[in-house]
Amino acid sequence: MAERSSGWHAALSAPIIYGFMQHAVGARRWMKRFVRDTVQPQAGERMLDIGCGPAAILHYLPRVDYCGFDHSATYIESARRQFGARARFFCADVGTIREYGVGPFDIAIAISLLHHIDDAAALDMLAKVREALVPGGRLVTADPCFFKGQPWITRLVVANDRGMNVRRFDEYLTLARKLFPKASAELQAGLLPFPHAVCAMVCRKD
Ligand SMILES: C[S@@+](CC[C@H](N)C(=O)[O-])C[C@H]1O[C@@H](n2cnc3c(N)ncnc32)[C@H](O)[C@@H]1O
Repeated sequence: MAERSSGWHAALSAPIIYGFMQHAVGARRWMKRFVRDTVQPQAGERMLDIGCGPAAILHYLPRVDYCGFDHSATYIESARRQFGARARFFCADVGTIREYGVGPFDIAIAISLLHHIDDAAALDMLAKVREALVPGGRLVTADPCFFKGQPWITRLVVANDRGMNVRRFDEYLTLARKLFPKASAELQAGLLPFPHAVCAMVCRKD
């Protein structure tokens, strides 16, 4: 299983509740800051967003040429309703990107995706993204993580995420380096108004 889909996790599949939750837990403020400090997109860049969800990130992006993939039909429907005039969306699994003939891209993002998929799917996704990037292009990811010395409360929060493949900080990096040998990672803790920890990676294609 890749995702928890019962109890309160089930409610998050409704775009309106997911969006409300993002505001409530400070994830939108984090997203805005993450775009500014880590993604650093430039107007006119061609951007691939894998596991884009309802694509709220478009609120914080300059005028990029944006292409979003997600396997949730309700999220993609919501994204198209809100941003269809300025972006392209595909309701598809991460493994099928190649079939849509999109790209090449200057930048790819996968925000809160890797912890929803297992190692085999993650490696497949990384290979396909690498292929879709221009030389010098970059993939930026962010996912909840475990780390050594983590306070128990943060560990508890992260362990109960909807995604069922939350990894240790170093495990994300090891995975990414199989396809992007120079990938770098930053541990972000204390950026949300509740206990949480994020592994943010920048993976550049040589
Ligand atoms: C936590 S949400 C993040 C959404 C968005 N990136 C954001 O930051 O708001 C994870 C997203 O990954 C999508 N997802 C998970 N596994 C996927 C897969 N195998 N193929 C495509 N999308 C997937 C889910 O539908 C969900 O929208």
